[in-house]
Amino acid sequence: MTRDADTERAGTEGAEAVTCTGLAYAFGGTRAVDGLDLSVGQGEVFGLLGPNGAGKTTAIRCVTTLLPIPAGMVRVLGRDAAEDPMAVRRLLGYVPQQLSADAGLTGRENVALFARVFDVPRGERAERVNQALAAVDLADAADRLAKTYSGGMIRRLELAQALVSAPRLLILDEPTIGLDPIARTGVWEQINAVRAATGMTVLVTTHYMEEADQYCDRVGLMHRGRVRALGTPAELRQGLGERRRAEGAADTAPLPTLEDVFRDVAGSGLDDTAGDFRDVRSTRRTAHRVG
Ligand SMILES: Nc1ncnc2c1ncn2[C@@H]1O[C@H](COP(=O)(O)OP(=O)(O)OP(=O)(O)O)[C@@H](O)[C@H]1O
Ligand SMILES: [Mg+2]
Repeated sequence: MTRDADTERAGTEGAEAVTCTGLAYAFGGTRAVDGLDLSVGQGEVFGLLGPNGAGKTTAIRCVTTLLPIPAGMVRVLGRDAAEDPMAVRRLLGYVPQQLSADAGLTGRENVALFARVFDVPRGERAERVNQALAAVDLADAADRLAKTYSGGMIRRLELAQALVSAPRLLILDEPTIGLDPIARTGVWEQINAVRAATGMTVLVTTHYMEEADQYCDRVGLMHRGRVRALGTPAELRQGLGERRRAEGAADTAPLPTLEDVFRDVAGSGLDDTAGDFRDVRSTRRTAHRVG
């Protein structure tokens, strides 16, 4: 690690991993993020859920400093994303919703490129690239072109790219979209293994409710630019169950799932007022390119 990176990482103890306060971001007249308050503790796996067009990717891009912060505040491990974006970037790894690996390079070359971009010291690069590839089980395929990889291998390669800089905060935007159940489990197991070894914080979006239930410590359900429900998956399920019983549901009624909670919160958002053609097109493209 460079001295700069050491300096950036110092003084982050005790701070929340991510804090958004009143964050707002609009594309023209579309208020994609609309007064978002969010707090993610260090070491948590936090799931940001919500229907297409809820504002998840926009919020995440503000946290990663890829979008400016026109209103409100974002802090990452105590660093202000608007005032000190470079410090924030040095602390995080990001796997975007869209493809971030180059099909014409080998797996190793792709990860090495990220090591250079993220300033991993030259003398450590080869070893760190090897470690990142091994962590996602791609050591044997490292010297094949990425275009020969399956969808699951590509997503794992992107994970290696994000991990090579040893981030304190890993941000994953739909890491398992379009993958088969075994590949999805593989991605999550690798995220969890790195997290257990390093204590990094994970902020993840997913449309797979059972994944959120199984792997996230807490989830925030986002709808129309804001978090509308927040808690552990169990708290949210129990909360809905209690409300339904208070409203007259039988004691023997099955316990709600996280998907029920999602439907309850998103409600009318699952009709055609949420999302638009661009959302559908980009989601399909993402699903297709890894399929
Ligand atoms: N580059 C853009 N230009 C114009 N509008 C945009 C752009 N990106 C997002 N939007 C709009 O902002 C809103 C939020 O989009 P965003 O991509 O943040 O949602 P999301 O929750 O990530 O959805 P998905 O689950 O489909 O990925 C949507 O209404 C979308 O149409
Ligand atoms: Mg998105």
